[in-house]
Amino acid sequence: MLQVTELNQFYGGSHILRGLSFSAQPGEITCLLGRNGVGKTTLLKCLMGLIPAKSGEIRWQDNPINAWKPHQRVRAGIAYVPQGREIFPRLTVEENLLMGLSRYRAAEAKTVSAEIYQLFPVLQAMKQRRGGDLSGGQQQQLAIGRALASRPQLLILDEPTEGIQPSVIKEIGSVIRQLARRGDMAILLVEQFYDFAAELADQYMVMSRGEIVQRGRGVDMEVDGVRGLVAI
Ligand SMILES: Nc1ncnc2c1ncn2[C@@H]1O[C@H](COP(=O)(O)OP(=O)(O)O)[C@@H](O)[C@H]1O
Ligand SMILES: [Mg+2]
Repeated sequence: MLQVTELNQFYGGSHILRGLSFSAQPGEITCLLGRNGVGKTTLLKCLMGLIPAKSGEIRWQDNPINAWKPHQRVRAGIAYVPQGREIFPRLTVEENLLMGLSRYRAAEAKTVSAEIYQLFPVLQAMKQRRGGDLSGGQQQQLAIGRALASRPQLLILDEPTEGIQPSVIKEIGSVIRQLARRGDMAILLVEQFYDFAAELADQYMVMSRGEIVQRGRGVDMEVDGVRGLVAI
């Protein structure tokens, strides 16, 4: 389980994250919603150790990990799909996945990549194509596939539906749900697309100006009026 307590972060003099506290449980999809600029990506970067938290505690599987480097967090089972995808455009799909598989022995790498191709058949079909030649939606699937190569117990996704066509959004949603149903992975999903979030969320949080201003169970999002809070 991920447990964040009273997290604070600043850029220069601006207070970006203001005392955030929440947890994410295995087998659950935790959706974080909020408009542009409220601090969602900053929070995820703190969770990954890409920027240091100013104060507060990040605990993962009962260890305080504030001081851990990003690669230590990845090794401890945390995977991150950044906003904008950031795949390697000049490498093939297969090579992009291999970057995530490099720590396995050959036989194990084969099993893991077979699992990824099973979740995203399009990646198998496009194995030899360069990442940069894929559509936005395919690149997003590749970015998620690459994150899964580390066999994470916490998967963090930053706006995976941004700029992606509806049919691929559906496929990505179904993969996220499948992963959660396995029961051993916690999923933290940052989204601005309300319908996608509402369909997937076991629990939700709404962030505004660096604070969580509302939270609840996913099934209650509509009656809680979350749509109105995040509509652009
Ligand atoms: N590297 C940075 N330096 C200074 N300010 C930043 C930096 N990155 C983001 N910000 C500012 O911090 C706030 C939160 O940004 P961000 O976490 O990207 O929000 P979100 O992901 O919710 O859109 C915004 O006001 C943004 O302009
Ligand atoms: Mg963002």
